[in-house]
Amino acid sequence: MPTFPIAVLVSGRGSNLSALIDAQRGGALPIEIVLVASDKAHAPALRIAEAAGIATLALDPAGYRQRADFDSDLFARIAAHSPQLVVLAGFMRILDVDVVAPWVGRMINIHPSLLPKYRGLRTHERALAAGEATHGSSVHYVTSELDGGPVIAQAEIPVAADDTPMTLATRLLPREHRLLAACVGMIAERRIALVGSAIQYDGRVLETPLRMRSDGELASPV
Ligand code: GRF
Repeated sequence: MPTFPIAVLVSGRGSNLSALIDAQRGGALPIEIVLVASDKAHAPALRIAEAAGIATLALDPAGYRQRADFDSDLFARIAAHSPQLVVLAGFMRILDVDVVAPWVGRMINIHPSLLPKYRGLRTHERALAAGEATHGSSVHYVTSELDGGPVIAQAEIPVAADDTPMTLATRLLPREHRLLAACVGMIAERRIALVGSAIQYDGRVLETPLRMRSDGELASPV
């Protein structure tokens, strides 16, 4: 199978990026990461990309008069690398709707909650405060609505009585990494696509997000 070119946008640590690089190197993902771009020049994720020999781009939003100008320059530079998919992996900016529009169906985000619950920030803290019995992460297509696009798949974990936001995040993170890699793999293999506003999974409309099983495989909910 030919490799599937992707770009990854990051703002921080880069553990999801590392997971994609490791899965690709291990032969589990038929992708090529053609660019890792960041709004933060000091993001550790950029150092991870450099060490892996991946092209990087750091663009400082402070150099632009308006948010939309930054976003359109960023996406023009991304387009120059011809990715078939853009993966937001800890990219901590809200994107301009007009810049996002041409990429709908070709851009996904990993969000640390069981969407539609807890869009936005501090998801672990909010899930604990609400007394949730389970928590998780979601991979969704990016649309004009913040954390609101169609959800491809989710990884769910139980919340323990003594969990703190930190322990919950730490336990969830390895599941999140597998979830993201599995979704990118399904898209690269053309098993998942966004058609209009519906996700197609193996040629059928996906009514409910896929669930990640304990072995890391994605499965239809029963
Ligand atoms: C992850 O928890 C992701 O869900 C959220 O930001 C965090 C990024 O972590 N959107 P990392 O930079 O991939 O380590």
